[in-house]
Amino acid sequence: MSEIALDQIRFPHRHLLGIEGLSQDVISLLLDRAESYVEHNRQTDKTLSMLGGRTIINLFYEDSTRTRTSFELAGKQLGGNVINMSVATSSVKKGETLIDTAMTLNAMHPDVLVVRHNDSGAVQLLSEKVNCAVINAGDGRHEHPTQALLDALTIRRRKGRISGLLVAICGDIAHSRVARSNIHLLNAMGAQVRLIAPKTLIPSSIERLGVEVFNDMNEGLKDCDIVMMLRLQTERMQGGFFPSIREYFHFFGLDYEKLANAREDALIMHPGPMNRGVEIASEVADDIGRSAIREQVEMGVAVRMACLELLTLYAPKEDGS
Ligand code: NCD
Repeated sequence: MSEIALDQIRFPHRHLLGIEGLSQDVISLLLDRAESYVEHNRQTDKTLSMLGGRTIINLFYEDSTRTRTSFELAGKQLGGNVINMSVATSSVKKGETLIDTAMTLNAMHPDVLVVRHNDSGAVQLLSEKVNCAVINAGDGRHEHPTQALLDALTIRRRKGRISGLLVAICGDIAHSRVARSNIHLLNAMGAQVRLIAPKTLIPSSIERLGVEVFNDMNEGLKDCDIVMMLRLQTERMQGGFFPSIREYFHFFGLDYEKLANAREDALIMHPGPMNRGVEIASEVADDIGRSAIREQVEMGVAVRMACLELLTLYAPKEDGS
């Protein structure tokens, strides 16, 4: 990973709405910047000053633990002012529309709006109405770009590369923005992606994204370098997608028996929050030798620092400058 000269950095996008459409160079730039913060974040004094005087507003319409906290930490560690808008206590509860809320916040001249929303496409719509940079922190089942970036950083650090790896994404693909962002990123970086799920949890025509689909864990996990598990997103499900949790775990939950099909050094990942005993067995999730789940959380802060920094200081402004 090469050191990048600051005066040569240019980030070509005003917003970070998704991974789809980002070039390999842009993804590598984000990962390299994030990498430069990993060691720094392990120090006692983490204060930096590059975002001094800048304002970041977190606007989360959906629950979040990891993503919201790490955006807050990332902004503060770079010296920025971070405001967390709690939708539960804001005028959203009084019926204000997404766009009205965005315009209100925009009038306070923030530098970055970090937005999570339950509707796919809502963050893009909002980005068209405001003057500042917008980062998508997850929109419906569409994209979650910073999650895919932190997954990629975790993989790159553990395996030394992304290109050429065989990655299995397993579980509730149909409702997962994490899966979609990861498919785009892994394809762009030259990895091979397999999706493993029951037929009811695989969107039709997903093969168009350049992935192989399996409905059997033992078959799909064969020789994989990375096993990425997904949460069953019951909050997005109407009706029955599988007979019972017990049956789901039996066929699609990651336990040591199914994992034995993957490579011996296969890395286990999960974006969290985990449902233990549903999509993953506790002992597999907690296997310190093989599970990178905690490291993913750690990388989340570094990745969000890189995103905030690049969008604030090195991206084109609204007037094109
Ligand atoms: C994911 C999300 O919100 O999309 N969580 C996260 O950001 N770490 C995945 C999930 O909720 O299952």
